[in-house]
Amino acid sequence: MNEYFNIAFLTSGKSRGSNFDSVVKYISKNRLPISTKFLIITRPDAPIIQRAENNNVKWILLSDKNNFEHDLLELLSQHNVHLVVLAGFMRKLSPNFLDKFKGKIINIHPALLPKYGGKGMYGMRVHQAVFENHEKFSGASVHFVNEEYDAGKIIFQKKIPIDHLKSPEEIAHEVLKIEHEIYPKVIEQLAYQFFSKLVYPVESEAIPSG
Ligand code: GRF
Repeated sequence: MNEYFNIAFLTSGKSRGSNFDSVVKYISKNRLPISTKFLIITRPDAPIIQRAENNNVKWILLSDKNNFEHDLLELLSQHNVHLVVLAGFMRKLSPNFLDKFKGKIINIHPALLPKYGGKGMYGMRVHQAVFENHEKFSGASVHFVNEEYDAGKIIFQKKIPIDHLKSPEEIAHEVLKIEHEIYPKVIEQLAYQFFSKLVYPVESEAIPSG
C-alpha cells in the first residue's frame, strides 16, 4: 500500500505562491501523509521559488511551451503523482492531458463559482466585478479542472459577507484568507478519500446474486 498521497503543484508566470505556501505548511504542521513531489514554474523569476526553497519543495522550470505537457506527464508518472494542484496556473490544459488525469486536477478560484469565473476572470478582475455588482457575498471555490476555465465540478466553497468592505482590494484580501483556509483542507480530504479506496476498494463489477 502507498504510504503517501503524492501531489504536485502547477503555477505559471510570476506566481506569488501564497496558496502553495499555505498548503505545504498545513501538510507539514499536521504531519499529513501527503508528499509534495514538486512544483512546476514557467518563469525563472517567479517569486514562488523562494517559498518553495523555504519549504524544501523541489521546483522545476518548464519554460518550453511546446513540450510543456509532454515533459509534465513524464514527471507526473515518474513521481507517481496522485493529484495535480493548480495554484495560480493560467494556461489551459489540453483535452489529451485532462483525459489522462481525469478527476485528479484541482484548482482554486477567488469567487463563488459559477459566478465570476471563465475566460478573463482572474486576479483583481474578479474582485473588481464582484465589487461593481454590489455583491453581498463572495468567497472561494475549489473545483476539478476540465476543458473550460473554472467550469469543472465544484468540490467545496466557502462564502463570506463582503457588504461592509470598501474596495476590490479589501475583498481580495478577505477572500485570500478563505483560500488559504479551504485549499489545504480539501487536499487533506482528497488524501483521505484516496486512502479509504485503497483500504476498501470498490468493486467495479456487480456481485452475482445467489
Ligand atoms: C489565487 O487567487 C487563486 O484563487 C487563483 O490564483 C491566485 C493565486 O495566488 N487561482 P497565489 O499565487 O496562490 O498567491
